[in-house]
Amino acid sequence: MSKVKLFSGENIPLEMHKVRIVQKLNLPPVEDRLAAMKEAGNNTFLLHNRDVFMDMLTDSGVNAMSDNQLAAMMMADDAYAGSETFNRLHSKLKEIFGMEFFLPAHQGRAAEHIIAKTFVKPGDVVAMNFHFTTTKAHITECGGRVEELVSDEGINTTSRCLFKGNMDLNKLTDCIARNQGHMAFIRMEAGTNLIGGQPVSLQNFRDVTKIAKDNGILTVLDASLLQDNLHFIKTREEACADMSIREITRAIADCFDIVYFSARKLGFARGGGICTRDAALSESMKELVPMFEGFLTYGGMSVREMEAITVGLEETMDEDIINQGPMFIEFMTNELVKRGIPVVTPAGGLGCHLNAREFLPQLNDHQYPAGALAAAIYIASGVRGMERGTLSEQREPDGTEPIAAMELVRLALPRRVFTLSQVMYAVDRIDWLFRNRHLIGGLRWVEEPKVLRFFFGRLEADGDWQERLASAFRRDFGDSL
Ligand code: F0G
Repeated sequence: MSKVKLFSGENIPLEMHKVRIVQKLNLPPVEDRLAAMKEAGNNTFLLHNRDVFMDMLTDSGVNAMSDNQLAAMMMADDAYAGSETFNRLHSKLKEIFGMEFFLPAHQGRAAEHIIAKTFVKPGDVVAMNFHFTTTKAHITECGGRVEELVSDEGINTTSRCLFKGNMDLNKLTDCIARNQGHMAFIRMEAGTNLIGGQPVSLQNFRDVTKIAKDNGILTVLDASLLQDNLHFIKTREEACADMSIREITRAIADCFDIVYFSARKLGFARGGGICTRDAALSESMKELVPMFEGFLTYGGMSVREMEAITVGLEETMDEDIINQGPMFIEFMTNELVKRGIPVVTPAGGLGCHLNAREFLPQLNDHQYPAGALAAAIYIASGVRGMERGTLSEQREPDGTEPIAAMELVRLALPRRVFTLSQVMYAVDRIDWLFRNRHLIGGLRWVEEPKVLRFFFGRLEADGDWQERLASAFRRDFGDSL
């Protein structure tokens, strides 16, 4: 895709695949979208998918699968124990990561559960470039604490830095010095979900894990978003330009003691697991698999999904396949930038990330600008995004509400799912909303769950701004949806 140049000089992300199975979409009128958003407690997680036109909530488990993946699913070897399907997945992981042992789990957070339960004791610290919601929840559940050591550029929304997910090495040595004897492990997330899918360089993986090894600290890679990160290393890190995707993958894995992943993202299917080359580490986690996930040869995954992951992992080694996501995201980001809309730059992986603090300067952080913007986007377009800001944080044990470092609305681009014209529709409606941003007000809690509150909490609008937004839409667009 990246190698095709157009005569016109224009730069469009040309797909290197064709679409052979489609699903009809529904775009309800704005009045129905307003009603659906209220019904969902202004939480996009609680919308019915039938009311959603473009589902940009996440890329998790909703990437388009390939013909080869679907074919492989028909060949699954269905056995509780010792299935050939598991052996195929295990061999593929060994080949790609060079790690002998594999513990299967039903998804990424299940792997996090096992890792946290095994290695985190009360009072321990887990150092990481940036946290992910479920990762942090498992660590704090075990009595541990997270320290975020991302470089300062990582939370600069409009930076030129190409690897904003990198860990700051000075912060790391300081963290190790302050927490002698209490460092459970160092976790690197590639790329960083909550700060805009920003990648980590191979050099940073090497530097961080060298410091860890010198200090005898366990290293863990969260490879859930590795696919986009591989593309960025290949295209942005000069020293890696001549390496194949397979070589880059292996070079990253070689740095770590443990690699875990959500196959809802990595591998275009649904599942997860933990890889390591160390028999003792594998043994220390092993018993938790049959206890919480399932037997050691499926770990809660269906055999069909395991077959799809095996093929998906092989396809992940193909640059023509993995660059579709980042190139669509870059295209959408550039179109938004052209219209003056505040968006995280440079474009990262996973999706396009709007900066809600700048989009809605009239709101303070306790009015949840990203939550309000996600609700407004749905009302204006039928596009479902996800709040990635203060609502996605968890309260401190004393009840205080931490303010998120970044207040973002994520518009995920599940891989190979949307067309360019659908992306242009989303850009157009967000552009309209930006011109009418003065109409958008805040949100307040109606029901606030104690854990992972963003998943099923309910909020209401401050005043009648949503009705006024829907009226303005009807006035400007006439009888158009
Ligand atoms: N780590 C990262 C970096 C993730 O992005 C996710 C999931 C997980 C771990 C947990 O994996 O969902 O399979 O249990 N991210 C999803 C998202 C939920 O929408 O970004 P899981």
